Amino acid sequence: MCGIIGYTGTENAVPIIVDGLKRLEYRGYDSAGVAVMNEDGFEVVKQKGCLSALEAMISIKPIAGFMGIGHTRWATHGEPSDVNSHPHLGSQNKIAVVHNGIIENYRQIKERLEQKGIRFVSQTDSEVIAQLAEYYHDGDIVDTMIRTANALEGSYALGIMCLDEPDKLVAIKKDNPLIVGVSEHGNFIASDVPAVLAHTNRVCYLNDREIAVLTKNSVEFFNMDGEPIYKEPETVTWSIDSAEKGGYEHFMLKEIMEQPRVLKETIQSVLGDGDNRRIIDSLDVSRFDRIVITACGSAYNAGMVAKYVFERLCRVTVEVELASEFRYKDPIVGQSTLVILVSQSGETADTIAAMREAKRKGAATVSVVNVIGSTIARETDYTLYTMAGPEIAVATTKAFSAQLVLLYLLAVSFAKKLGKISKETEDRLLSDIASLPGKAAGLLKRIDPVAKYAAGCVGCKSIFFIGRNIDYAIALEGSLKLKEISYIHSEAYAGGELKHGTISLIEDNTLVVAISCCERLYEKIYSNVEQVISRGARVLFIGNCIKAEPGEQLETIELPEINELFAPSLSVICLQLFSYYVAANKGLDIDKPRNLAKSVTVE
Ligand code: G6P
Repeated sequence: MCGIIGYTGTENAVPIIVDGLKRLEYRGYDSAGVAVMNEDGFEVVKQKGCLSALEAMISIKPIAGFMGIGHTRWATHGEPSDVNSHPHLGSQNKIAVVHNGIIENYRQIKERLEQKGIRFVSQTDSEVIAQLAEYYHDGDIVDTMIRTANALEGSYALGIMCLDEPDKLVAIKKDNPLIVGVSEHGNFIASDVPAVLAHTNRVCYLNDREIAVLTKNSVEFFNMDGEPIYKEPETVTWSIDSAEKGGYEHFMLKEIMEQPRVLKETIQSVLGDGDNRRIIDSLDVSRFDRIVITACGSAYNAGMVAKYVFERLCRVTVEVELASEFRYKDPIVGQSTLVILVSQSGETADTIAAMREAKRKGAATVSVVNVIGSTIARETDYTLYTMAGPEIAVATTKAFSAQLVLLYLLAVSFAKKLGKISKETEDRLLSDIASLPGKAAGLLKRIDPVAKYAAGCVGCKSIFFIGRNIDYAIALEGSLKLKEISYIHSEAYAGGELKHGTISLIEDNTLVVAISCCERLYEKIYSNVEQVISRGARVLFIGNCIKAEPGEQLETIELPEINELFAPSLSVICLQLFSYYVAANKGLDIDKPRNLAKSVTVE
């Protein structure tokens, strides 16, 4: 979490940094700050609250300089406050630092430095980096970075300016992302590509414990022995338009609307002639007797959906594990296990740890990742990219949909290779998948009923989501989406579980969202619907095989027909819209829900 950016060049760094921070705000928004270096030394403005508070502050107290660093914070150590905001300065005001990550041994370092008379002003772990770097600085910033990094335990992506070496902006990372952008008018460091897209699409990806030294017209890289290393900038295909709201009130709605295109491009990346196709073709699936899918949040829910698809088509056991649990459970995986890591950012700390644990135990790893060059993308044996483009809203929508469709395609390919489906069945399944973008587009043309129904749900205290089999898996995502952005308590249950406890929570006017896209299970889910209606619940029944007529307590939303295995791609759109309109009617900050961050790079 936390977003960092830095710039050195021929233009005023402040507007460039503030604009970059806007595009990183999804990483955290408890506080923000900017420091520039100019002939007067460092000028720093930092402020508790969203970026708009920082902008207001800068308009009152303008600062300017050709080099600067900026930070948007998701607090881990020390409450969100002005003093705990980044950038942090050493006590001699010689070094300024922005940090994303957690320094685990900060207390020991702090005590050591305090004994030497150094005074700290904040409660953060990050301030120790500025103080330590200042303490170590001997006139050579690369050497200082090496000594400082060697003393730190934990994770970090750092941007550092030093008054004694005023032409250099320095960066280093370990277990947190950092890219270097190269442009005509100057050079950048940033946590993520969208922060620099307005200026350049040429980026270098830093590996752990590599150091970048930027001047206004050069970029050099060093290893931890201080030896130069060479990196060629890569060209990113994401466009700046995809990181803009494009006339929508919120990024989330824009990203929901982009799903037909994202589905199409992701499908094309496998069925056409791209890297995804090549990688899937190269996978020898016969060596695996088990598949484990591990991920966090919505990506975990994509795994839950995929489990049903893989098991049905490939007849192979699939386990879905939360990455935060998998990493600590001494998982039973080995050479005959395929571990699939699903992650939009490719930087989720728990998913990275799960990946490393799986690799350590000899399992083969495949990742389904959206961010090019991210840690998971770089470290797994096989990397499949979703074609969602930059996703800005904290609550994922289009990246989730891209994960689903890529996992379906992977399952079909595995089933074919394992001889579990005929060519005819494969063709039929692929044609079902290929029909999804068109059906999603059709669905998005008639969103009014969902919007209208959602408007009547703002007063709900609790909303339950139910489904059976794969409809249950997607109910999990519907429930997560709702609580993330609307702050309404919500839980998802397998329909058959209701009678084992949950039904006691149903009372007059409780809202239950039921999903029904498995025709063979229609009567089963419908009996659950009747059970809750008879206890006073209101039901929003979403599906493509619903036979019940709407009534006083029952509203229905019809989805296009599709193979039940791929129906989650359509039902989820309805669920996303439902959550969006509930939150919009509550007037909430949909793109930046409280306490959440999009990229969770700490444990
Ligand atoms: C956070 C985000 C979720 C996301 C999860 C996993 O909690 O708010 O939207 O699903 O992290 O992120 P990843 O980048 O690994 O998919």
